Amino acid sequence: MMKRVFAANWKMNHGPAEAAEFVRHFVAGFAPASDRTVILFPSALALAVAREGLRARPEIKVGVQNIHWEDRGAFTGETSAPIARAAGADYVLVGHSERRHVFGETDEEAGKKVAAGIRAGLTPVLCVGETAGERERGETAAVVLRQLRSGLAQSGRTGVAACLVAYEPVWAIGTGKTATPRDAAEVHVAIRAELRALGGDGAVNVPILYGGSVNQENAATLLAADEVGGLLVGGASLDAGRWCAIART
Ligand code: PGA
Repeated sequence: MMKRVFAANWKMNHGPAEAAEFVRHFVAGFAPASDRTVILFPSALALAVAREGLRARPEIKVGVQNIHWEDRGAFTGETSAPIARAAGADYVLVGHSERRHVFGETDEEAGKKVAAGIRAGLTPVLCVGETAGERERGETAAVVLRQLRSGLAQSGRTGVAACLVAYEPVWAIGTGKTATPRDAAEVHVAIRAELRALGGDGAVNVPILYGGSVNQENAATLLAADEVGGLLVGGASLDAGRWCAIART
C-alpha cells in the first residue's frame, strides 16, 4: 500500500507566530499515523518555527513553496535549494500554478528547479494543470503531460522516482470548483502512464496528488478516485482544525 500524502500549501499566509500556533493545535489533534505522510508548506520565513514546533513529531514534514535553480549566487530575493534544506525543508513545491501564471515561470524553469531540489536532497512536488480555456479546447492531457515531461526533463530516469506530482487544474484553485473524481482520475491515469514511460518501474510508487478547492467535505471522494494518492490543499489547510480533519481522511 502506498502511503497517502496530505500537503498543506499556506501560500502567502501565516507568519512565524501563526505558524507556531497552528503547529501547536495540529500536533495536539493529529495522532501519529504510519499510513500517511503529512507535509506543511509555510512561508519560507515561518519554516524554521514550524520545524521547531514539530520537533517531537519528526514524521510530519515541512517544505518550501519555491526555490531558485542555482545553488548560490547573486540572485537577490531568492532562496536556494541548499539553503532551504539547511533550514529544515524536506520538500519543495515546483511549478505551482501561481508561479506559472502570476510570475510567468516556464516549463523549463520548473525543470531546472526540480533538478536543483533533488541535488540538494529535497523532494520536489511538481505541480501541473490546465487552465479553463485549455480544458475547453480539449488540450488538458497535452498541457499536463508537456508540463510533466519538461518538469522532469533535467532529472533523468532516476529523478522521476525522487519526485511527487500534483495535478491541480488552474480553474479549480481557490475557486470552490473541483474536478469531478472521474475527470481527476482520467488525468491521474494519464500522468501515471507518462511517469512509467519516463521512469520505468521506479515511477510506479510516485504519489500523484490532486489539488484545487479540496476541503473536508470532498476529500474522501477525491481520494477514492483512481491513481489519486494524496491531496494538495490551499485555503482549507489554513485552519488547524480543518486541516486535521482533512489529514485524517
Ligand atoms: P486551494 O489551493 O485548495 O485553495 O484551491 C490549492 C493550491 O493552490 O495548491
